[in-house]
Amino acid sequence: MHLVWRNIFSFFLFCHICLAVVKDNFKECEQSSFCRRLRNLKPGDSKYVLNLNNLHVSENSVETELWNSEENVKFKLVLTALAGDMFRVYADEVSPIYPRYRVQGVLNGEPQVERLDVLKRDKDEVIVQSGDNKAVLKSEPFKIEFYKASNLVAVVNGRGLFDIEHLRTKKSETEGEENSLQKEDAGAWEENFKSHHDSKPRGPEGVSLDIHFPGALRIYGLPEHADKLALRTTGLGGVEPYRLYNLDVFEYIVDSTMALYGAVPVVFAHSTTNTVGAFWLNAAETWVDIKNSKDQNVVSSLVNLVSGQASESSVDAHFMSESGVVDLFILMGPKPKDCAKQYTKLTGVAPLPQYYTLAYHQCRWNYITEDDVTTVVKNFDDYNMPVDTMWLDIEYTDGKKYFTWDPIKFAHPDQMLKNLSSTGRNLVVIIDPHVKREGGYFLHEEALANDYYVKTKDGNVYEGWCWPGSSSYPDFFNPTVFNYYKGLYSKLKYENVDSDVMIWNDMNEPSVFNGPEITMPKDCLHYGGWEHRHLHNIYGIVYTAITYEGLLARNPNKRPFVLTRAHFAGSQRFAAVWTGDNNADWKHLAASFPMCLSEALAGISFCGADVGGFFNNPEPELLQRWYQAGIWLPFFRAHAHIDTRRREPYLFAEDIRNRIRTSLRLRYAHLPLWYTVFYEHERFGEPVIRPLFYEYPNDSEVIDIDNQVLVADSVLVHLISEPGATTANVYLPGGRSTYWYDIRDFRKREGNGFTSVPVNLDSIPVFYKGGSIISRKNRPRRASTLMHKDPYSLYVALDNNKSAKGTLYIDDNESFEYKKQKYLYLQFEFKNNELSSSLIDNTDYESVEWIERVVILGAPTEVSKAVITSKTLGSVDLETHYEGDALIIRKPGVCVREAFVIKLV
Ligand code: GLC
Repeated sequence: MHLVWRNIFSFFLFCHICLAVVKDNFKECEQSSFCRRLRNLKPGDSKYVLNLNNLHVSENSVETELWNSEENVKFKLVLTALAGDMFRVYADEVSPIYPRYRVQGVLNGEPQVERLDVLKRDKDEVIVQSGDNKAVLKSEPFKIEFYKASNLVAVVNGRGLFDIEHLRTKKSETEGEENSLQKEDAGAWEENFKSHHDSKPRGPEGVSLDIHFPGALRIYGLPEHADKLALRTTGLGGVEPYRLYNLDVFEYIVDSTMALYGAVPVVFAHSTTNTVGAFWLNAAETWVDIKNSKDQNVVSSLVNLVSGQASESSVDAHFMSESGVVDLFILMGPKPKDCAKQYTKLTGVAPLPQYYTLAYHQCRWNYITEDDVTTVVKNFDDYNMPVDTMWLDIEYTDGKKYFTWDPIKFAHPDQMLKNLSSTGRNLVVIIDPHVKREGGYFLHEEALANDYYVKTKDGNVYEGWCWPGSSSYPDFFNPTVFNYYKGLYSKLKYENVDSDVMIWNDMNEPSVFNGPEITMPKDCLHYGGWEHRHLHNIYGIVYTAITYEGLLARNPNKRPFVLTRAHFAGSQRFAAVWTGDNNADWKHLAASFPMCLSEALAGISFCGADVGGFFNNPEPELLQRWYQAGIWLPFFRAHAHIDTRRREPYLFAEDIRNRIRTSLRLRYAHLPLWYTVFYEHERFGEPVIRPLFYEYPNDSEVIDIDNQVLVADSVLVHLISEPGATTANVYLPGGRSTYWYDIRDFRKREGNGFTSVPVNLDSIPVFYKGGSIISRKNRPRRASTLMHKDPYSLYVALDNNKSAKGTLYIDDNESFEYKKQKYLYLQFEFKNNELSSSLIDNTDYESVEWIERVVILGAPTEVSKAVITSKTLGSVDLETHYEGDALIIRKPGVCVREAFVIKLV
């Protein structure tokens, strides 16, 4: 028996590799009938008319009838003003044959509404105002214009592509167009015509809507795609629309608009004067066409150049979904920061993670035994390389049966955990949603007995293939299943072990090896009678919500850690994400920055890419560069495919080891910064990492830069993604009055735009921004958990006014006590040659850490000493000396909890 399963497993492992040529396995828009239909809508006057004679006005919204004039179908349209400078546009059929699917559980609660006043009202036009935002509803052709103050920033249905398909009108157009790839899409509604559970037909039920962004130069968003950060014009040169359909794409290619594991339907249209966002809340398969006037108007701009007219830039986004209602949020900006906060107000933020989860994670498919795990950790220790978390991939289970352990290779999980936690290490194990269909497996038997599985359209339990071979998929949309599965996490709790196993959720698109496009057929049935097509893109987020809640129920006072591959808008509330199965090549390293930047803009900051590349063996230079870059993404984990050579960093030659050790230590030194920024993300809703345009929205030079990230606003990192680099063309923003300090030698540079910076193999360019104060812990340790009481070093990077400011957040690193005011949130400020500290909030935490060093970058010359004054120290002289341009103040010795002033003399 064992052999049989091994063969089945090998077959799928082989498939995992043989499916490497991806493109042909996945649809293009033309092969998806709803996409083809909706993409073929012709721009022009909309066939939809708003009946503004019939307007219902409430304190926060206006509701009116929307009429499809060609086919005489009635819809209702509601425009609501939301708190925080947003509008919501909702449209649905008045008398649907079937109710349309409305997305559940994605918004972080019901959005708060805002007062709205009707300024004008007649049969052609209604003007409403909320704060300094205005919306103008136009009757015929139907349009909604959005104004920030007096600037027109977005027009819904600007090109007339709005459509809500209705069966009676579309049936004939879709007949006979099915091909093998389309089976579960185009033809399915057709089959449902004869319907299994009802005699009424279900589709087609596509929805389409375009938004015109006048003045916009670029548009960003729509993760997850392995593409540039700034979205490109689709259609041109055969570029497919951006596809949002959670899929397990083996060996995905870069520079592509193809669908990947995650789908976040939000865009941000940006110009140097205005940024505006649009969030399309729809869980069905979605395609988005982008048109940027810079690509469209090559000819017309030449004409304008000759005629002396400036052509106004603009961007258009056309959303096309297979089903659902129209539920659109317009985020009125006006700056990228405002849009980011507006979006996280709707979909939530990542809760502050445990400190150690920001440190280094060591993963591989697979660490094969308990001894293997112990030996790897010992090697890290022997080579003085820090690591916090060991990961176990699918082979730790008993035959891919999740919530079990291999009885031979992992026979003593509690002992293994004890060993790990005795050196401050933690463990993450994988749990996937597919359930092995094997008699005697408790999960399968209980799921069968209680009717927990997703069904086929004929009402049988759906069976697909995944890692264990034949599998079924719990219907997590069923509240009973949700609660049952949540309870399973208590099985991974070990008494008397001071460490909680954390969870990695994979294959949750869901991945089905023999399913259409490697996922579940769209006509499978879920709780409430909904078809898989209606909710495919949120199967993954619902699964991670269960995991998060399950871990919380298991231990209510430890912050859960979950990593997920599939994701949707709002996933940040439950899990970190990684960019899936990348390849050990330079292009995939390059893609890691724009991919995570795009996620971060879309609310999902806790993002990383497999360091080293998942498939294949990285050459040593690539591996080193990957570590040097990976330490500057929020989630930092090395991972590798089962067929790759071992590549734990201690296995390499001494020079390589040294460089990787330096990178690891740099990450560990900056953990106080990462932790503080994550805290601020939870509190203020801004991304942890940011593209340049986010912090420098007025600079038109930065709109395409995506090989640099900013950590908050204070650290700038430039990616090296080609072999043999000796210089880097780094963009230093902000103008001459902004200073950037190279963290290698503290040399000061001005923000003069593109600057050639020499590089060698030892490091990549990283700068601290003048005006910031960065807290570090520089003492090398084996794990971050052993650094809790270590002293801080403050790096004070002075701006052109010889001032700087920074924050530092401290708590117990793991519990929810911070919600009960048990934390310190400190502000450091340097001005007039004095560094002072103060508490931002009136809270306390019994922290014992002290300040061991202050490093002042761009310091005044001829400082001979410093004097510190605090309540417990009184006034004490401190030694100073210069190292290059930096002034070092030795051993201030003050407890970080205590207010102090250090004066330079
Ligand atoms: C998927 C994951 C990968 C994991 C493998 C085996 O391919 O993306 O990270 O190692 O499954 O579980």
